Amino acid sequence: MSYTAKDPEKRPLLALVDQADPPDVATYERGGGFRGLRRVLSGLSPAEVIDEVTKSKLRGRGGAGFSTGMKWSFVPKESQKERKKYIVANGDEMEPGTFKDRLLVEGNPLQLVEGMIISAYAIQASHGVIFLRGEYHLGLERLKIAVEQAKAAGFLGENILGSGFDFELIVHPSGGRYICGEETALLTALEGRRANPRTKPPFPQVSGLWGAPTVVNNIETFSNIPHIMANGIDWYLGLSACGDGGTKLYGVSGRAKRPGVYELPLGTRMGILLEECAGGMQDGYRLRAFLPGGASTAFLGAEHADIVLDYPTPEKAGSRLGTGLAILLDDRASPIGMIRNLEHFFAQESCGWCTPCRDGLPWVEKLLIDIEEGRGGPDDILRLQDACRLIGPMGRTFCAHAPGAIAPLESGLRLFREDFERAVQGGGAVVPSAQERAA
Ligand SMILES: Cc1cc2nc3c(=O)[nH]c(=O)nc-3n(C[C@H](O)[C@H](O)[C@H](O)COP(=O)(O)O)c2cc1C
Ligand code: SF4
Repeated sequence: MSYTAKDPEKRPLLALVDQADPPDVATYERGGGFRGLRRVLSGLSPAEVIDEVTKSKLRGRGGAGFSTGMKWSFVPKESQKERKKYIVANGDEMEPGTFKDRLLVEGNPLQLVEGMIISAYAIQASHGVIFLRGEYHLGLERLKIAVEQAKAAGFLGENILGSGFDFELIVHPSGGRYICGEETALLTALEGRRANPRTKPPFPQVSGLWGAPTVVNNIETFSNIPHIMANGIDWYLGLSACGDGGTKLYGVSGRAKRPGVYELPLGTRMGILLEECAGGMQDGYRLRAFLPGGASTAFLGAEHADIVLDYPTPEKAGSRLGTGLAILLDDRASPIGMIRNLEHFFAQESCGWCTPCRDGLPWVEKLLIDIEEGRGGPDDILRLQDACRLIGPMGRTFCAHAPGAIAPLESGLRLFREDFERAVQGGGAVVPSAQERAA
């Protein structure tokens, strides 16, 4: 489900999405499509495009929130004729609770295609890959059609719109592991090898796919680019409710009345997302806590139910904006069960490259199962805290999978301490009674 604000200008990413079929080239152009690309190729230099994207304050929508223009500026400046370079759209989207890129590729794949052509021009890449979650069958089919249509209309291939710029784009379905979404593991997978992350530096912008300079951005990030180039920096900054630019695809899953994806100004309050867009909690359920931006973000308690969902504020509160799709914990669910479920996912999806993650996460899962099922003792809480110290800090492992896995556990041990203590005193994880919930 998507939120349809009245003015399509205020929700550019989803403006053409709410139709039975995705727009073809003619419909897309009638809706303003390819205006940004035409402007770029009719006279802007690659450096000018990078400068405009930097000034628009677009931050990557894949989770880390890095400045997109700045990332592009790290790519060596040779032209596409002088040096091979690649551009890759990250559509792996296996983060539990996150389902925004799916809406974009199914609903308006040409928007992504246009964003990638403009981005390729900015960094002077000759080839691009859309790396898509393997289960997104409809998205894959629609993307392939969009690429063919764009090619037939002269927006892909050689000498695009007579500019002398060449660009080829292919769509590649993922083999189906969460780690394939980590940008360096994604590149290793594309090279046909086992998807292990690579050490950084060197960053992909300097040495990426087959050693060539490569930019990896999220699908939502690329989908913003046509609108920035068509409508300008001030318009884009004006869309936002905070210091960074644009709208954001926010979302809610869990016991809300209308779970779904909603395009809102970046910096919208959680209260507006949950109460106005998602209709509030279902009858008989209260919000106890939430993960603000996917499974790898830390829990925030219900006292943060109206927090500003920009980049800095959730960080100050001890979590992250992440992907911007919140997972709700209600007062009738067991937080221990929810955390055990998340850690099961993270343990299963470890690529096995480094010991703390490969061996530590299954151990964490086992401790949680013991506690949940009433076999745990007080020492097990201490063991879980130790595991957080050993596995959680950035730098202990090759990639951010392990720190992401520890975020809900570490915050959960603090927020739901009483639940854990009660569970190890006997009986395991229990769902609070109606009287306890009312108290
Ligand atoms: C385990 C793991 C999984 C990730 N999965 C995704 C993903 O599915 N999609 C995505 O865009 N970024 C994912 N990321 C982040 C990427 O490594 C990278 O930061 C992102 O694609 C950069 O794009 P952006 O700058 O546009 O946000 C993941 C990171 C980690 C550590
Ligand atoms: S942290 Fe986990 S997923 Fe990342 S490289 Fe190490 S073992 Fe692989």
